[in-house]
Amino acid sequence: MALSIVILAAGQGKRMNSQFPKVLHQLGGKTLLEHVVTSASKLNSIEPPIVIYGHQGEQVKHRLAHLNVQWVEQTQQLGTGHALQQALPFIPDHYSVLVLYGDVPLIRTDTLKNLFNNTSKEAIGILTAYFSDPTGLGRIIRDSENNIIRIIEEKDATAEERAIKEINSGIYLIPARYLKKWLPTLNNQNTQQEYYLTDIFSIAKKENIFIHNEMPTDYQEVLGINDRIQLASLERFYQWDVAKKLMHQGVTLLDPHRFDLRGHLTVGQDVAIDINVIIEGNVIIGNRCIIGPNTLLRNVTLGDEVTIHANSIIDGAEIASHCVIGPFARVRPGTQLGQYVHLGNFVETKNSIIAEATKINHLSYIGDSDVGSHVNIGAGTITCNYDGINKNKTVIGNDAFIGSNTALIAPITIGQGATIGAGSTLTRNAPPEQLTLSRAEQRSLAWSRKTKKEKES
Ligand code: UD1
Ligand code: CA
Repeated sequence: MALSIVILAAGQGKRMNSQFPKVLHQLGGKTLLEHVVTSASKLNSIEPPIVIYGHQGEQVKHRLAHLNVQWVEQTQQLGTGHALQQALPFIPDHYSVLVLYGDVPLIRTDTLKNLFNNTSKEAIGILTAYFSDPTGLGRIIRDSENNIIRIIEEKDATAEERAIKEINSGIYLIPARYLKKWLPTLNNQNTQQEYYLTDIFSIAKKENIFIHNEMPTDYQEVLGINDRIQLASLERFYQWDVAKKLMHQGVTLLDPHRFDLRGHLTVGQDVAIDINVIIEGNVIIGNRCIIGPNTLLRNVTLGDEVTIHANSIIDGAEIASHCVIGPFARVRPGTQLGQYVHLGNFVETKNSIIAEATKINHLSYIGDSDVGSHVNIGAGTITCNYDGINKNKTVIGNDAFIGSNTALIAPITIGQGATIGAGSTLTRNAPPEQLTLSRAEQRSLAWSRKTKKEKES
């Protein structure tokens, strides 16, 4: 059965109260529409999914230009039936159409596969679910033989119909040839004056077309997002799902309710992640690492047995095994640390390669630098990499010792094994193996301090 996927995403989402289109709001660091496209793309449809866009559509298209989808515009949002109709000219008659919603982000590929595999070619398939609070959703009406006969929108429902807990997810599998026949016949004589896609179910019933239904494993899969409260609660469901997977893989989450993955994490065994850790972008964590509380890891690779102490921000960095970072470290893009490097509190690094076993333990800025191995950089060392126009490079050889509170004015090279006296401001290269220092010599003069009384008189 040839499959075409259509994602309805043209609506405004008034209840989000937002300047952005609803489908661009994020869940787990990814837009709602991307979630749907990702699940749909794992099905074996030959053509890319069709996305019906409309409200603030240019913004949606621009922001999601990287997606492999076919964009079809619905210029006026006249209802779900009208929205789907816009896709029909692009779909051959013998295809089946899987209808998804841009605001129902957590639908699983497996659930869609069940719907696809268990609905016969001549039938219509629909995902339904039981909600303890079905407020706002379309209700499934069944006959005495338990067959689905129609769907009623809450706004058009009687009190008795509203009491029904079985809801319409809005996700269907329908042969294109039925849609081509039925959609042009829809009317908008209902409370919302919209062309309801749901009306095709009573047409199907009249034409004796079998309606098959499936249910998702978790009801959250078919929860639509209409406001920010629903967005927040689905976010928590998503994070809990992610946390469970990680724990099954051998990760210790000290509190899975205070863990947030907003991207993709590949992780080894026996990693312990403390509370309030946020993981963004693509992150790889090796075995036996410890990630301290209140830490942000974004696009980072960590080797094995890395320890990140509390309150550190690590972004765009490659960190080899056995490094120890933080607390309160800021590791910025382009940082590469060799094994056993220590970066301590209030250390900031950027665009720097720091080789094996080098220690920068306190209050330093290392930018645009190439630091050798076994170097010791004292507290308060600054690489002065910016002269107001250009960024310049600092090179520090292996085994160098940089005394505290040193300013290295780049471009500059500190030779291998060099020692730099504390408090130096260096503007020229320092030779290897020698002591270099640049500071006023210390003097002591005879001196007696005036007492307070003498001063006043
Ligand atoms: C719809 C269903 C309802 C179901 C619910 C599940 C109808 C009439 N009702 O209601 O039975 O329980 O979904 O979430 O179908 N859209 C367009 N163009 C339009 C209108 C909507 O593209 O002209 C898109 C929206 O962007 C959204 C989806 O269709 O992604 C659903 O539209 P929405 O208005 O949210 O429908 P509901 O009232 O939630
Ligand atoms: Ca909706």
